Order: sequence, then structure tokens, then C-alpha cells
Amino acid sequence: MAGGSAAAAPERETWTSSTGFILAAVGSAVGLGNIWRFPGVAYESGGGAFLIPYLVALLTAGIPILFLDYAIGHRYRGAAPLSYRRMARPAEALGWFQIVLSFVIAVYYAAVIAWSLSYFVFAFDLRWGEDTAVFFTGEYLQVGDPEVSTTLVPGVAVPLVLVWVVVLAIIALGVSRGVQRVNVVFIPLLVVAFVGLVARALTLPGAADGLNALFTPDWAALADPGVWIAAYSQIFFSLSIAFGIMVTYASYQRRRANMTSSGLVVAFANSSFEILAGIGVFATLGFLAHQQASTVDQLEGLSGPILSFVTFPAVISEMPGGNLFGAVFFGALVLAGFTSIISILLGVAASVSEKFGLAHRTASIVVCGVCAVISIGLFSTTSGLIALDTVDQWANNVGIVVSAIVMTVLVAWVFRTAPVLRAHLNRVSTFQVGRVWYVLVGGLAPVLLTYMLVERVRTLLTEGYEGYPTWYLALFGWGAIALVVVGALILTLAPWRDRDDTDFHAWPELEEERR
Ligand code: PFF
Repeated sequence: MAGGSAAAAPERETWTSSTGFILAAVGSAVGLGNIWRFPGVAYESGGGAFLIPYLVALLTAGIPILFLDYAIGHRYRGAAPLSYRRMARPAEALGWFQIVLSFVIAVYYAAVIAWSLSYFVFAFDLRWGEDTAVFFTGEYLQVGDPEVSTTLVPGVAVPLVLVWVVVLAIIALGVSRGVQRVNVVFIPLLVVAFVGLVARALTLPGAADGLNALFTPDWAALADPGVWIAAYSQIFFSLSIAFGIMVTYASYQRRRANMTSSGLVVAFANSSFEILAGIGVFATLGFLAHQQASTVDQLEGLSGPILSFVTFPAVISEMPGGNLFGAVFFGALVLAGFTSIISILLGVAASVSEKFGLAHRTASIVVCGVCAVISIGLFSTTSGLIALDTVDQWANNVGIVVSAIVMTVLVAWVFRTAPVLRAHLNRVSTFQVGRVWYVLVGGLAPVLLTYMLVERVRTLLTEGYEGYPTWYLALFGWGAIALVVVGALILTLAPWRDRDDTDFHAWPELEEERR
């Protein structure tokens, strides 16, 4: 019914406290990216020297864009497409671009959680045996050639179905009864488990050598643009920014909410966790090198899925009390993964519910259902690992960078809403955002990101990726990006149901209080 005004609309659900919001936002940020990605990326990209581009990326783009996400969501009180639309009508398309991209990420992210769940169980009897590489790609994933496979691997399909059932249940319960409750329990549990893990790792023989391997700086790496690209991509993925997800989370914050201070807490917690994970993982690898009487740099498989699912199980098998260590490690991956994937799906479900006038529960079932079917169809087949690696590469090095560039340019230059957003943040928060924010959001970030994007696209076009066939990259890499663009267009052009937004005011009470 088109006549329903904003005043008649039901109250928007909220987090029940600031702590609830912060824990949920930390839950979204701290995920597989911290444990599964960061240690390997840091090691490959200059070790200790990587901390410089990493911190630069955090300060120049990470925190400023996190604030931007928060400002848009909190001011315009909608999931990404509705919030952007309220900011400026045509910007709705950006919201859908981000949401469809998040959807793509959720599809493969769920698969990694499913693997972690299996490995949590395998840890109890060290089922991966002696040759952990053969076990992972052969016995467990049954990896074949890069092809479009339809052969289901039951060992992956079963935990994956389980993951989707749990995710759906949490999302359907909503913001405060579902997502917040899960985070309030899972995040403290995760911290305790992880601190225990790191403490144990640091007492292993050889731990110090592992830390030296991670932190010894290779200064020459700083001259490599690829290293800077890796740092910025890591920050975006890790903080969950420019995906429209933090816009959605912020939209459930209450009126009086200290947005910027919460943002600083979240960013600090996320990076601390990331560095802690680096320490834990490399201390453990130091032990492996020590056992093999070699050095860490001679070990193979120190990045990506191989690090967690091949190298780590090998260490666990050699460690006294490895079963417990393994169960806690993979259990931590599962917890961290769940709290992140629910943020993505809440964002997607909320966007669909608002646009198509569906009840939250209906939208959750539709979104999780579609996502689950694609996820199971693509990633529990024999070509799952390669598809995952390719989609991940394109989504995070092309998709999200495009999203961040468009977002910053629209806000700073096209619709010129940066001053309104800054004023909004400063009105509700204790930590005041200075004018330097304009320079970062409107200048430095888009310029750096555009340079990075051009570099990366050039490399992908000229060198391909991991030696996979060109047709395969066209289908799963560029195809994933094309799908996001087309999906975003269709969803933008679809008509809004039951929404008359003409009398929407961004927090009229706040405006009045100021007078
Ligand atoms: N930040 C999560 C991680 O580090 O694993 C992943 C993620 C969650 C990415 C939510 C994007 C997102 F919207």
C-alpha cells in the first residue's frame, strides 16, 4: 500500500545496548579474514614491513570509511539500498552493488565455515593422518580440474547444509533476539579460546623462530604496489567495510548512539585480533619447522586455505595434546565465521525485506534459501576449492575496491553529502571527526584505490591467476563481477513495494534538539 507514511511504519528494531552493537560489529569484523587470511597475507607481503602499509590502510581508508558506513546507516536508518536512496535516489544502485557482492561472498564464506566444522570433528582423532595435503584436497574435498562440476561431495555438503540451517535460524530471529544474542555469547568465547591458543602456541619449542619469520621486515616489499593492494584489500575485507553491511548494522542503532567511539573500539579490536592471530599461527609454524629441523621460510603452504587446512593439521598431529589444540583452533574458526556470515546475510535479508515489502522472516527464508542452494551447488562439488579461490580473488581485489571508489566519490563529489554526514556523526558521538576526514574520504582514499584497481586489473588481465585457464577465470572471476553489476541493476530497477519515503526525515528529533 503506497500511502503508508514513515510515521505509521512499525518501529525499526534496535540493538538493545551499545555493547550489543559493538559486539555485533566486532563479530562481523573478526572472522575467517583474521585467522585464515591475515597471517598468510602478512607473511607473503613483507612480514614485519607489512605492518606499515597495513596501518596506513587502516588509518587512511579503514577507519574513515567505517565512519562513513556508520554515518550513512545511522542517519538514513535503512539497509544499504534504502539508506543510499534516502541520501540521493540514484545512489540506491551502489547499495545493491554492495549487497549482491556480499551475497557472493556469503556463498563461499559458508563453505569455509563448513570445512572448519568438519575439521573440528576430525581434530578429535586426527583423522587427516600423515599426509594432510592429500587428505584435504583428495579425500576430503575430492578436488578435480578447473571445470564446472556437478559431482557432490557428501563430506562437504552435510556440514554445509548444517551451516545454512543455523544461519537461517539466527537471521530469522532478527536483530536483538538472533544476531545480538549470538554475538554476546560467541565473541567472549572466541576471545577466551583464542587467547588460550596463542598462549599455548608461544610455549612450544621453536615459537620464537616463527615470530621472527613473521615479523622480520623485508623493506624492499614496500616498493611493490602489490603489497599495498594486499594491505588495503585486507583492511576492507577484515573490517567488513564498503560491503553495505556496516551501513545496515548502524541503521539498527538507537538515536543516541556514540557512533565514532564505537567505530574506534571495533577497529582496534579487529586489528588486535588479527595481529594476535598472526602471532599464534606463526608461533605454531615455528614449532613445525623446529620439529622438521628446518626453518619457517622453507615450509610450504603458508597462505590461504592451505595454511589452515593442510599445514595446521600437520602441526597439530606433531604437538603433544594436539587434539585439544586442533579442536579449539577449528572451533574458533567456526565461531568467528558464524558471527561474520550472519552479518552479511542480515544485510542482504534486510535489503530485500525493505525493497519488496516482505516480512523479515519471509525475506530471511528467501535469501538464505537461495544463497544455500547456490553455495551447496557450487562449493560442495569437486571443483569447489578452485572456484572459491577465484571468486574470492575477484570479489576482494576488484569488486570491493570498485565499491569503495564509487562510494567515496558519490559522497564527496557527486552528491556532496560529506558535510551532512560529518555533522551527523559529530552530533551523536563523543569522538569528533575533524576536517581531515574530507581529505581522506574525498581525496586520498579514492585516488589510492583507483591506482590499486588499475594495477590489479592489469595484472589479472595480463598474467591471469594461479595458472587457471582463461575461460575459467572469465566465468568465475570476471563473471562474478558481471553478475554483481547485472544483479544490482535489476534490483535497483525493480519497483519498491509498500514504501512512500517522501516524508522521511533523518532523525527529526535530533534536528529539533539542536535548535
Ligand atoms: N570481516 C570478515 C572477516 O574478516 O572474515 C568477513 C566479512 C564479513 C566481509 C562481512 C564482508 C562483510 F560484509
